[in-house]
Amino acid sequence: MCGIVGYEGNREACDILIEALKRLEYRGYDSAGIAIWDNGAIKVERRKGKVEELRKIVCDGTFRGQIGLAHTRWATHGVPSERNAHPHKAGNVVVVHNGIIENYMELKNRLKEKGQEFLSDTDTEVIPHLIIDHMNDGMNFIDAVRMTLKELKGSYALGILKEDERILIAARKESPLIVGIGDGEYFIASDAPAIINRTNKFIFLEDNDIVILQNNTLKLINIDGETVERAIQRVQWTDAMAEKGGYKHFMLKEIFEQPRAISDTLLGRIKEEEGEINFDEIALPDIRKIQKIWMVACGTSYHACMIGKHVFEANLRIPVETDIASEFRYRDPIISEDDLLIVVSQSGETADTIAAMKEGKRKGAFTLSICNVLGSTLARDADGVIFTHAGPEIGVASTKAFTTQVSVIFMLMLFMGKKLDILNNQDIRKHILEIKRIPHKLQTILEMAPSIEEAARKYMSCKDFLYLGRGIQFPTVLEGALKLKEISYIHAEAYAAGEMKHGPIALIDENMPIVFVSPNDQTYKKTCSNMEEVTARRGRIILITDDKNHEMSKRVDTLFVVPDTIYELQPILSMAPLQLFAYYIANFLGTDVDQPRNLAKSVTVE
Ligand code: G6P
Repeated sequence: MCGIVGYEGNREACDILIEALKRLEYRGYDSAGIAIWDNGAIKVERRKGKVEELRKIVCDGTFRGQIGLAHTRWATHGVPSERNAHPHKAGNVVVVHNGIIENYMELKNRLKEKGQEFLSDTDTEVIPHLIIDHMNDGMNFIDAVRMTLKELKGSYALGILKEDERILIAARKESPLIVGIGDGEYFIASDAPAIINRTNKFIFLEDNDIVILQNNTLKLINIDGETVERAIQRVQWTDAMAEKGGYKHFMLKEIFEQPRAISDTLLGRIKEEEGEINFDEIALPDIRKIQKIWMVACGTSYHACMIGKHVFEANLRIPVETDIASEFRYRDPIISEDDLLIVVSQSGETADTIAAMKEGKRKGAFTLSICNVLGSTLARDADGVIFTHAGPEIGVASTKAFTTQVSVIFMLMLFMGKKLDILNNQDIRKHILEIKRIPHKLQTILEMAPSIEEAARKYMSCKDFLYLGRGIQFPTVLEGALKLKEISYIHAEAYAAGEMKHGPIALIDENMPIVFVSPNDQTYKKTCSNMEEVTARRGRIILITDDKNHEMSKRVDTLFVVPDTIYELQPILSMAPLQLFAYYIANFLGTDVDQPRNLAKSVTVE
């Protein structure tokens, strides 16, 4: 998400840190800040906008010192602004943070009661305050940091400075952080590209590791204060490789980031023990009055809406109408004031989706956006917003944005189901357990990547593909076909499997592969009959299913078995092989995977 860099050595830190921040700019951010220690004082400067703005202010020789931290923020809690930018300072402690502190609200309330004053809307600010609180109780700095880390729920990569000591502490849990080892100097960074021009010797920190940099020496301990050892690794990455974390393309990196991204989406929102979903961030109107839910979006986000229709209607029994945003307003939709209009968008800046939201507002509906970018138009202007917390998505073909959108939709259904007394705490607990398992299940699918790559090699020269699925897997195959089209430029068409007989069956012969997504759900038998019809016409089937024992699974050309889960979440699991399949075909064909021809990441014109 955000970017962290730090320096401890004998050279002036300011230029080194600003240059390192600039090397992280490609990831996207909304504000930047720096803190430099010099003789018992820490100078902090923060700016909304570009690192260049910050550089102009601090790189004029006034920010002197040989130990410091800098940060680019990609907002998760609190709008992009100077006061929410990092570093955050409380007393004599300064902190930069990546990740999400799940229990920040309760910590903040506790600290406020003790009289501590908060200056930002961020979750991060509780960290320096907690450290101070422990030091007020008589703990030394390092112990106070350890105790603070023990109290934090959620994920973090941290850099911490203290005014009256020349010391830099870094720590991680579920958010990447590396230490770069130079010649008598150390760097810390959330991502290798920030410092790959300085050193190729890294320590990749593990969860609960704490690094103490002082007097040009490095000490590694764990959260319990015990010494730990980590190997120093030499990487031979070019700049471009480092940006992509060693992956060939951003798209591949983002596909592999999905387990992490979904975990972040769930953070702070699922209360397993209580059987509750926490969406404090939105104040929906009286849910009982909702007559209809509209779900409107473009591209991949529209496919998430189609999944939403299944999820909401099946569980809440409220009618859902989905619409492509570019069509929506022109047909003068019959929206009532009791309707809920959900707009879904990765960027929050898609022109047609913004126009759809305005149409809904004009007609008096409550508008809710599901969005990935804080501070974006849809995030600001809708009546309510739920962020997906997928982190910046750089590849034009959307991947982790989609699976996190589906995760949010699922949680929203649980949230509303509870309010409507359709779901009780026990039902919700059961569902929470299921979604909590998704990141791990997804990970096992990603480990199948080599066999998916093999399959991609086999089919890469085909000119047309047909994708078929029923029920909730229909939007899944639409999205799978879209992925292939977008990045490989191969014609791929998706149909609801039941529609096959009404046209597409005429196309089937041994030259056109047919991708079926058919887990063992309520439509399974029917889709199996469609597969029979395809094999009878010598069609070659690529099947994604959770049932490896079915007769059909033995007769298809290529089989990918994914773990099973509940109906509503199966699209997340089925999607991963489809994404990888499209990716590897495009990669074999040598297309520009991250920036496919004619496509834009954010379509801000109608
Ligand atoms: C563009 C992108 C797609 C995306 C669509 C909607 O077409 O290339 O990947 O799905 O816009 O974007 P949004 O940001 O609103 O989700």
